[in-house]
Amino acid sequence: MSNNPTKNPIWKELEAIGNTYHSKTIQGLFDANNTRFETHSLRSIGFFLDYSKQRITNDILAKLSQLLTEHGFETKRDAMFKGDIINNTEQRAVLHTALRRPSNDVVEVAGENIMPAVHGALNKMEAFSDSVRDGSHKGVTGKVIKNIVSIGIGGSDLGPRLVSEALIKCAKPQDKILNTYFVSNIDGDDIESAFAQCDASETLFVVISKSFKTQETLTNALTARQWLKDNLPEGADIAPHFVAVSSNITTVEAFGIHSDNIFPMWDWVNGRFSLWSAVGLSLCLQHGFDKFRALLDGAYEMDQHFLTTNLKENLPVLTALIGVWNRNFLNFSTLAILPYAQSLLYFPAFLQQLEMESNGKDVDYDGTPITDYKTGPVMFGEVGTNGQHSFYQLLHQGSDITPCDFIGVLNPDTSLPNHHELLLSHMLAQGQAMMQGRQNPDKPYQYFHGNRPNTTLLMDTMDAHSLGKLIALYEHKTFVQGVMWHVNSFDQYGVELGKELSQKLENKDLSDADSSTQGLFAIITK
Ligand code: F6P
Repeated sequence: MSNNPTKNPIWKELEAIGNTYHSKTIQGLFDANNTRFETHSLRSIGFFLDYSKQRITNDILAKLSQLLTEHGFETKRDAMFKGDIINNTEQRAVLHTALRRPSNDVVEVAGENIMPAVHGALNKMEAFSDSVRDGSHKGVTGKVIKNIVSIGIGGSDLGPRLVSEALIKCAKPQDKILNTYFVSNIDGDDIESAFAQCDASETLFVVISKSFKTQETLTNALTARQWLKDNLPEGADIAPHFVAVSSNITTVEAFGIHSDNIFPMWDWVNGRFSLWSAVGLSLCLQHGFDKFRALLDGAYEMDQHFLTTNLKENLPVLTALIGVWNRNFLNFSTLAILPYAQSLLYFPAFLQQLEMESNGKDVDYDGTPITDYKTGPVMFGEVGTNGQHSFYQLLHQGSDITPCDFIGVLNPDTSLPNHHELLLSHMLAQGQAMMQGRQNPDKPYQYFHGNRPNTTLLMDTMDAHSLGKLIALYEHKTFVQGVMWHVNSFDQYGVELGKELSQKLENKDLSDADSSTQGLFAIITK
């Protein structure tokens, strides 16, 4: 069978059904099935997923599941967990799931069990973060470390940033939290604002770069090193203030970081899936290793769910198939991520990288240009209720339909009265308004078409464990969609051209620059 999903007869069937669903209303689906909410929702492993407000039925989902199965989903999923070389363009295994597995499991890469290395790194992270947090690791002047500055970008930033913020928001009063600043942008304003908050003698930099070649990160790391030299006593050893996380040990050592201060990454962990590795070191430092362990355990629980639950009740599979339906059969090209939880402030940004860098591809797994179907949608989002006062106008009345993922927390740990009820009322109201619309307004501009599909995902709680589950859910969703679209979700060649061209511009090489770029360059460098 062809790997092009459109060649499968089920795709054609789904296309025909999709054509009839363009005109169907979600309200009509409810009218035709008075148990639609019960039959098109699911409670599982601490989540409640309501997809009844999508323009889809379980019969359609069954066909999509069959299509997925016929595209070798289960074999491909198992191959990923087993450590087969599924990232074919880079000839790498894809084993972020190994990072959350128990130490007595065996996962082999090139005939070697990687689990001792995984747990060795976790032990080193625990020991180091404990020593910083209990004050036994001191700065060069003998002061305890009070500030952590995490330097990294993309996958070496967004995951820790997301979790850091979420754990601050759900921390208990007795929890010890170290001041932590995340620096990613090469714009000097970013690192300068961290410097402004920190005393060098009490500051630890964690430089995170899998490749240790990323210009933004290396530039910031050099600036940080100089700042330490300038702000610590002359000739002081900066080693206690500087650690790195990387798979490129030689380059890190050449940079001047001692091997004891290097935490490993591996080429079988892709950047945007690397939160679970030593990339999470700043989280251990900020919140304690126990929280990080709970995050890993949550993700592991989702892995087991993904591996063992039938496709009909499998959260990553269901959410992925709904996304495929919207993208390929109803032709919606965007997806909004709308968490009604301040703790998930950075979740939209994290998912933008996770899904768009993974599945924003126009060449398939075999290197064939994809011409007859669409791959990943444009994703964006904002926490509710802030988004409501910003771009929801377009979500309700814009000329394009954007499916929405609402995410809420049932039992957040908050002592303030009212806020939570009001927050979730807003979330429910938005989903309802999007679906029902308003067809009989007094004025035409008050008309809401409605029939705008949305999913609501409720989390029982918000803590490190449930956050681990949530992130892993979307990781696996991304994988499933990659299988359906037959793309390699684990490379990112689309980011390379810009890097190469910027290198040329830095060298003042305008040989292949267009006249607009040349003109702008002249203005900038005048
Ligand atoms: O440019 C994109 C990218 O390669 C991401 O995939 C990655 O997460 C990020 O840059 C950072 O890379 P590194 O960890 O190697 O610095």
